Amino acid sequence: MKNKRVLSGIQPTGNLHLGNYLGAIKNFVSLQDEYECLYMLADYHAITSRYKKEEIKNHIFETASAFLSSGVNDKKNIIFRQSKVPAHLELAWILNCIARLGWLNRMTQFKEKAGDNKEKASIGLYTYPVLMTADILIYKATHVPVGEDQKQHLELCRDIAQKFNNDFNFKNFFTLPEPIIPKNVSRIMSLKDGLSKMSKSDPSDSSRINLKDNNDQISQKIKKAKTDNEAINLNILDKNSKRYEAKNLISIYASLKDVEIKNVINEFEGKTFSIFKSKLTELIITKISPISNKIKEIQKDKQYIENILDTSEQKANKIANENLIEIKKIIGLN
Ligand code: ADP
Ligand code: TRP
Repeated sequence: MKNKRVLSGIQPTGNLHLGNYLGAIKNFVSLQDEYECLYMLADYHAITSRYKKEEIKNHIFETASAFLSSGVNDKKNIIFRQSKVPAHLELAWILNCIARLGWLNRMTQFKEKAGDNKEKASIGLYTYPVLMTADILIYKATHVPVGEDQKQHLELCRDIAQKFNNDFNFKNFFTLPEPIIPKNVSRIMSLKDGLSKMSKSDPSDSSRINLKDNNDQISQKIKKAKTDNEAINLNILDKNSKRYEAKNLISIYASLKDVEIKNVINEFEGKTFSIFKSKLTELIITKISPISNKIKEIQKDKQYIENILDTSEQKANKIANENLIEIKKIIGLN
């Protein structure tokens, strides 16, 4: 009996990239033997920012295909659409009444996404971390694999869970969930600027490797990726080193190979980046091409994906509804 339960989610906003894969999806695969896992297509999160209603379904199918193509096993795990499990929203409302305004005001992702014009941001975008908390707590998940950018949301989730336990005098009702953040490379950076993260919202396509890029595109993007003129050496790891782009490319290599960054530097010590880049290109192509080919293949069979999601959603609803009944009892509404 597995008593550790994993929940994680990705917004189906299209254009999945190497950062999503190395920071999240790859981790999903490695956890599936040890934990009971639920992997969610966070479509209610995806509508907190502007989106195109004609595109979102395709993005949902694309993200589901990316999970399956990367090795997330639909027999072992629950792969589901958030919007098909209404209990998330009921719990989110309850938790909205527990979370404090001051806590949400500290969320840096909201500040970044809302930009200068906060008055124009949707209320959904503001309260999104509470919905994310509900996503996790509705299953009483114990572990949450995410990239480093989501760490603050996980801390908020723990604060809300703790306050719920305290307010209703029910010690340990919610276990405080632990983030699982990849050790080696918690944040993949843009290929054009080692200080900003690789993101699907970056307007420049050459700033990222998309999971659906073909070999030529991968090769061109790595060739053009920003580096410096110095050879590869251990000073890249110095605390004060400004070789951000160099470190990023080495980190991508390390993460794809599942080795320490130091080992990669030792392997290429003294070599130029042009030599390293050709090895990196080879590695990305070997690891990513099979996935991108599979994504394109699976995505065509909508019925196949629909069946997988459907079966999973029944299981997710069962767990979520049982927990919701218990939660409503605890707060006096049942
Ligand atoms: P994006 O920032 O591209 O819009 P999402 O916010 O949908 O991506 O993130 C989905 C998952 O991928 C999250 O777990 C997030 O932490 C992870 N992730 C996104 N970008 C990166 C990155 N550059 N490096 C590592 N992990 C990332
Ligand atoms: N907020 C996450 C992101 O933008 C996606 C997400 C939604 C999530 N709900 C979640 C991640 C619950 C982990 C757990 O990447």
